[in-house]
Amino acid sequence: MIRVSQTSYQYPGGTRIAFPDFHIPRGNHGLLLGNSGSGKTTLIHLIGGLLRGQQGKVEVGGVDMASLTEQGLDQYRGRHFGFVFQKNHLIQALTVEQNLLAAPFFAGLPQNSENAEALLQELGLEGKRQARIRELSHGQAQRVAIARALINKPTVILADEPTSALDDKNCDKVIRLLMEASTNHGATLVVATHDQRLKSVMPVSVELVASG
Ligand SMILES: Nc1ncnc2c1ncn2[C@@H]1O[C@H](COP(=O)(O)OP(=O)(O)O)[C@@H](O)[C@H]1O
Ligand SMILES: [Mg+2]
Repeated sequence: MIRVSQTSYQYPGGTRIAFPDFHIPRGNHGLLLGNSGSGKTTLIHLIGGLLRGQQGKVEVGGVDMASLTEQGLDQYRGRHFGFVFQKNHLIQALTVEQNLLAAPFFAGLPQNSENAEALLQELGLEGKRQARIRELSHGQAQRVAIARALINKPTVILADEPTSALDDKNCDKVIRLLMEASTNHGATLVVATHDQRLKSVMPVSVELVASG
């Protein structure tokens, strides 16, 4: 599903970051593990098409990401990827449902309240549809972020440091929820992290080492 080969990336004025080759089969879960500064976020952004201009090849679902036009890339991203970040990037003043339905809106997909409701049920947030994000606990807000990542029925979920700020109990909860939800929705899950605790729950797809 995701294949990275001979890939490297250089920020303007920065040193070139070279990534080891790896492959994550469809429907699998894979960890991109490495210390701070080793290039995990860069790699997640290359896979998700948030960053372009790499050398080598990044393929998702058999599509070479470099072959897409800007417009094609926007469309591909909206249809195929769900993103979960360390910070949830939810809009505090809007309701849970409004936050969820923003995702299909920006991807040019139909906004379906029933989908939103079903996901909230699945993630244990029934009854929170009309709550504002600022009225939720941190854990609830994080589950809304996971629901938002799933609502466009992505083929790939990309999660960047989803557990780094969490204690052991919540770390375990969140990673299991992400794995379970990805499996239920037939999505491939990619987690980028320096959080060594995740090694015991997910297969390591690639270990990144900071250069210099
Ligand atoms: N926007 C940027 N411009 C220039 N250099 C960057 C930028 N983002 C990251 N870098 C550099 O690229 C390297 C990898 O960063 P990053 O992908 O964020 O690593 P990680 O997520 O593993 O901490 C670091 O040396 C970082 O300083
Ligand atoms: Mg990072």
